[in-house]
Amino acid sequence: MTTEQARKTAEALTYSTGFGNEHSSEAVPGALPDGRNSPQRAPLGLYAEQLSGSAFTEPRAHNRRSWLYRIRPSAAHPPFTRIDNGTLAGAPFTETVPDPNRLRWNPLPEPAPGTDWLAGLWTLGGNGDATQRTGMAVHLYHANASMERVFGDADGELLIVPERGGLLLRTELGLLAAHPGEVALIPRGVRFRVELLDETARGYVCENYGAPFQLPDLGPIGANGLANARDFRAPVAAYEDVEGPVEVVNKYCGNLWSATYGHSPLDVVAWHGNHTPYVYDLRRFNVIGTISYDHPDPSIFTVLTSPSDTPGLAGVDFVVFAPRWLVGEDTFRPPYFHRNVMSEYMGLIEGAYDAKAEGFVPGGGSLHNMMSAHGPDRETFDKASAAELKPQKIDDGLAFMFETRWPVTTTPQAAGADHLQKGYDDVWQGLERHFRP
Ligand SMILES: [Fe+2]
Repeated sequence: MTTEQARKTAEALTYSTGFGNEHSSEAVPGALPDGRNSPQRAPLGLYAEQLSGSAFTEPRAHNRRSWLYRIRPSAAHPPFTRIDNGTLAGAPFTETVPDPNRLRWNPLPEPAPGTDWLAGLWTLGGNGDATQRTGMAVHLYHANASMERVFGDADGELLIVPERGGLLLRTELGLLAAHPGEVALIPRGVRFRVELLDETARGYVCENYGAPFQLPDLGPIGANGLANARDFRAPVAAYEDVEGPVEVVNKYCGNLWSATYGHSPLDVVAWHGNHTPYVYDLRRFNVIGTISYDHPDPSIFTVLTSPSDTPGLAGVDFVVFAPRWLVGEDTFRPPYFHRNVMSEYMGLIEGAYDAKAEGFVPGGGSLHNMMSAHGPDRETFDKASAAELKPQKIDDGLAFMFETRWPVTTTPQAAGADHLQKGYDDVWQGLERHFRP
């Protein structure tokens, strides 16, 4: 499909809304069984198949599964064989040691011609262990060709954060479009193909090996606010009826495996359930912050959280620094100086971030690992300390953070990358002594 065709398809998409809902959809009337999941003969000669994203017995609030009604069951496939992992790596990350230094990267260089989204995935680092379903990985991607093959990640869900170029995501459950400023969430195991809506695409991926992302509890904020559930869009059923060779790549415990099917696995004609992809527009985030004094902890900007077994301790939080008003009085308004038991990977989708005057650019990223000291650079500190504190709109940037419970160990390719900035420490070197006892 050409970029133009993909764009037309993306513009015409419709969705089913609501994070965590029990969605149901059929691309052909009558394809969805009524009143039971697995009738003796599924409608229209389809096969019924359950896709379990949680253990059967997990509490209802955490239970994730979808029932798929498809032309062929997923079980009908030839053996997978290992293929080269390329620039993609998986947890555990053991080839380097965790680095206490603040690290910052420029954007990935342009990809070689013919690089599809999967080949363009480049792992920065991560933590945990995919075989234990704990931890996360930070990947970046750059691509200039649409995928013809199909990909599925058994290791975890994928939170895709486009920074340049729109993506058309053809998933088993239907189609989604994600442009810069939006994020897409592909659940564990769901197969999909990425087609480009522009000549090139670039962005970030959080691969979450742990519990699926959920909306954070709101506590005293109340019943509304932050990312509202209704703004998450799930696909409606759409299927490919393709007989012929289709390569399917499976990421399994850190490695890529490939098989050539005799048909497209994107052949789900109807489905229902809550294990579904979503797309979400970050500009819809209802930002909540101080209207008195002090800068709230950035957890107030949490879009999605992957909880751990310890209450309040996330395997990974996805946090967005969306357009907002700053009105705090007698307050240092940019993010404060900080040492954190959690580890923070930050990226920039557009514009500028209010704690870094320069060097932190769209497509780039910074890693402030567990307990590494970070905060505003000297220029930002000087400006914010002297600023007149009238209400100020921050509307020229969209930054985000993957904040994770364990240090992020970088891959050798990230630790030795040409685009790793030298001298990042210098942004804090000029902070002058102001102490006058
Ligand atoms: Fe921090």
